[in-house]
Amino acid sequence: MTSQFSKKSEAWSARFSEPVSDLVKRYTASVFFDNRMATVDIQGSLAHAEMLQAQQIISAQDYADIQRGMAQISAEIESGQFTWLLDLEDVHLNIEKRLTELVGDAGKRLHTGRSRNDQVATDIRLYMRNAIDNIIELIAALRLALLDLAEKHSDTILPGFTHMQVAQPITFGHHILAYVEMFGRDAERMADCRKRVNRLPLGAAALAGTTFPIDRLRVARTLGFDDVCHNSLDAVSDRDFAIEFCAAASLVMTHISRMSEELIIWMSPRVGFIDIADRFCTGSSIMPQKKNPDVPELARGKTGRVNGNLIALLTLMKGQPLAYNKDNQEDKEPLFDTVDTLVDTLRIFADMASGITVKPEAMRAAALQGYATATDLADYLVKKGLPFRDAHEAVALAVRTCVDKGCDLSDMPLAELQSFSHLIEADVFDVLTLDGSVAARDHIGGTAPNQVRLAIARLRKQLNAN
Ligand code: ARG
Repeated sequence: MTSQFSKKSEAWSARFSEPVSDLVKRYTASVFFDNRMATVDIQGSLAHAEMLQAQQIISAQDYADIQRGMAQISAEIESGQFTWLLDLEDVHLNIEKRLTELVGDAGKRLHTGRSRNDQVATDIRLYMRNAIDNIIELIAALRLALLDLAEKHSDTILPGFTHMQVAQPITFGHHILAYVEMFGRDAERMADCRKRVNRLPLGAAALAGTTFPIDRLRVARTLGFDDVCHNSLDAVSDRDFAIEFCAAASLVMTHISRMSEELIIWMSPRVGFIDIADRFCTGSSIMPQKKNPDVPELARGKTGRVNGNLIALLTLMKGQPLAYNKDNQEDKEPLFDTVDTLVDTLRIFADMASGITVKPEAMRAAALQGYATATDLADYLVKKGLPFRDAHEAVALAVRTCVDKGCDLSDMPLAELQSFSHLIEADVFDVLTLDGSVAARDHIGGTAPNQVRLAIARLRKQLNAN
């Protein structure tokens, strides 16, 4: 949409004796950013006009004129011909004024029984409903891309970490599925938020309702809302749904940011577990050897602004008395910025997931360091009858000996291992291997390749059902 902003100086209405200064005009205007709601503003106006004529508040001819005018305005906006006037403050007044230019009195009748207060609240909800539907689809696409990656690496072993110290061997597929779970909860949260977005404020008018015999349920039906907002004061002043959305978006970005942190660490040459396709990285202007994981770094950084937008909205609302206050105009930029950032980030991450090259040898080599199978040895002794705490102590002693000698548990000869517990027999070497260790964690939610494959099948089914 190309926008032209032209100037014209006039007092607000007959009530005013002088026009506002250019600075105040610019300060109070929102048309620079709220004109992205033009399509939903027209959609809302048409539903309102349809109800007005059904209730015989305006004539069938007026409704036909409004429809004709709005069709032309939509075309003008689409083709970039529409002139957005700063003087007309916001998207609502710009469209209404143009409508009146095009169709005369019918355009002036459109605002009967309505206020910009319930109009803007309706527009934001329509805009957000579309945004949420898109975001839910994008989350699903990211989850599918991650499932493909997990499937390719159901058997690939790497060290799992706690406290950033080698803990136990895990499969890479299992690790990636942890993110698929997180993004699954994110999609649920978005769907839940949508329920509270999808209620109609229109009919609340300025704050108290209207004296005209309106049919709010009819408008709700036309616009696909599940219900109407049941209190007119709440209808025009509620922005909870925008805050909820921003909170849900912050959590999506938090998950993206944690994943980014891991991708960055894994791609560091010191770790070398993965490589990220060149199209997501950039070089350095001074160091010719560099390939930097810019996309995950930027996503980690953009999480800050999305969190900031949430705090901006919470702070915007906390001191407002009922009902509508002009403060509310400040809800849009944080909200739109959150939508834009989230949409771009999700799209790019779904694409990047297929651009990750895994280096299984490096992962395996890392898993062989750090005594990742020490817990397996303790479990082995428990299964032979030793109480767990005693087994833990025996293995701790064995690990300490290995550290002194600079070898792995599986490098020690059987006789030496037996010096830590007489229960140790030749079969111990089966549990000391990485593959034996992961395969043994074969229960729902465990890291065994077998469980990873079952989880992928379950998740695919779930995603296809939606
Ligand atoms: N541009 C305004 C907003 O975004 C529209 C509502 C204006 N209402 C008013 N009473 N001034 O909130």
